[in-house]
Formats: sequence, structure tokens, C-alpha cells
Amino acid sequence: MNKITRTNLDEASGDSKIITTNQSGIHEKLDEVVQRHLTHPFQKPYQVHTQKAFDDINERVQAFLADKPDGKVILDSCCGVGQSTRLLASLNPDTLVVGVDKSSSRIERNVEGFDVENGYQADNFYLVRADLNDFYRLVEAANWPITKHYILYPNPWPKSKHLQRRWHGSAVFPTLISLGEEIILRSNWRLYLEEFQQAAKHVNLTGHLADLARDEQPLTPFEAKYQASGQVCWQLSFTR
Ligand SMILES: C[S@@+](CC[C@H](N)C(=O)[O-])C[C@H]1O[C@@H](n2cnc3c(N)ncnc32)[C@H](O)[C@@H]1O
Repeated sequence: MNKITRTNLDEASGDSKIITTNQSGIHEKLDEVVQRHLTHPFQKPYQVHTQKAFDDINERVQAFLADKPDGKVILDSCCGVGQSTRLLASLNPDTLVVGVDKSSSRIERNVEGFDVENGYQADNFYLVRADLNDFYRLVEAANWPITKHYILYPNPWPKSKHLQRRWHGSAVFPTLISLGEEIILRSNWRLYLEEFQQAAKHVNLTGHLADLARDEQPLTPFEAKYQASGQVCWQLSFTR
């Protein structure tokens, strides 16, 4: 794999603080919250902008599948500026990679030079601005053939009272966890992944949690930042 010689990203400095939390371990309400979400369907109406964004990308996905009936999709959730989306597209030339982030300033940041300077010139990817709380439900209904589902460095929300802002504490968790033959999460906060792993047990999924090798090539700007700060990055993965 080519070396990334440049990150064009302001996140990539080496002064990232270690996450602190007022929790002493796995949140005591985690199981209760996950069970509630598994037994009460999430019915909040879709936001118009996400529905539109989904309709647009779904058309492209369906065109890709019409051309290639055995084609597969990789979903890069919370993709930020889309560095991982580009890398994954370049590494999986036969697959369509869809990166999704709710932040228009991240999605629209000009990172074109990144491809050229680093030898990653792929055109098998799209970046979509959308809220995953809605987007996940639309993807599930459309039954996209997702091989790998990445969630790289989700916002940690480390305060105890914010459990339900973490993906495993959210109402969309039952849908999120149903997407992808493989699910791969990364975080610099091990407790986040331990909680996610425990939440996944409610749907009979056993995750594998391990630290990333120190010399692992960063997939994302946040990973580069944490590595530059000497922090350990963790990966939690599931295979169905
Ligand atoms: C810590 S950043 C990580 C970005 C990138 N994966 C990386 O590692 O460089 C978390 C990203 O999640 C996105 N995000 C948070 N909640 C989201 C949601 N509900 N829908 C879509 N994106 C979301 C944020 O906009 C942000 O870009």
C-alpha cells in the first residue's frame, strides 16, 4: 500500500487529548437502553435533506448494481472529509464505496489533491451529506448489498448522560447493526468499543476487540492525529 505522505487535514496535529469520562466502566443503563431500542421500532420521520440525498445516491447504487448484479457496496459511516472513503475505493476497485457524513463543511472540503499526490485515484466512490439516523433506515429498506460497514472514530460523547448519543445507545442501533457482512469500528476510547461490543451481544453478534499495530497506516485524519499524539487506537470488528 502506498504511504500517505501528506495529510491535508488540520486534524492531523499531534496534540490530541486523551478522552476522560465520569463513567467508571460500562454504562449501568446500557443493556436497558439497547433492549428498549430493540423492542420499540424507531419511527421518527426522515428529514427532507437526508431523504433527498438518499434518493440521489440510491439511484447511483441501483445503476451500479444493474451493471454489475453481483456488485457490492462498502459503507463508510461518519466519513468526515472522506479520506477513508477514497482509500477504501482505491483498495477495492470492483466495489462501490459510499461515504456518509452529516457535516457539509467536511464532506465538501476540497481534498482532491490528496488522491493525486498519494497515488489514490479512484472514481468508484461517492460522498454523501446526510444524517445517519435517517440514512441507515433508508439503506436497510433498500437492501443494499453491503460487504463492509466502517464506523471510524465516531464522536465519543464521553459524559455519562450522553449515552444515547453514542451509536450503541441510539434508537437507530438495531438498524445500524444489521448493515454489513462485516462491521468495523475504530476509536481511541476503548470503553466506547467495549460498550458497543456488549450492545451487539443483544443481537447475538460477538465482536473482536484489539489495538491497532503502531505502524498501521492511518485510514483517517483522526487516526493520524491520535497516532501522532502517541495514543492507542482500537478496532472492534464483527463478521456474520
Ligand atoms: C470524530 S469525526 C471522525 C471523522 C472521520 N471518520 C475520521 O476518522 O477522520 C466524527 C464524524 O462523525 C460525523 N457524524 C456524527 N454524527 C453523525 C450523524 N448522525 N450522521 C452523519 N455523520 C455524523 C461528524 O460530522 C464527524 O465528521
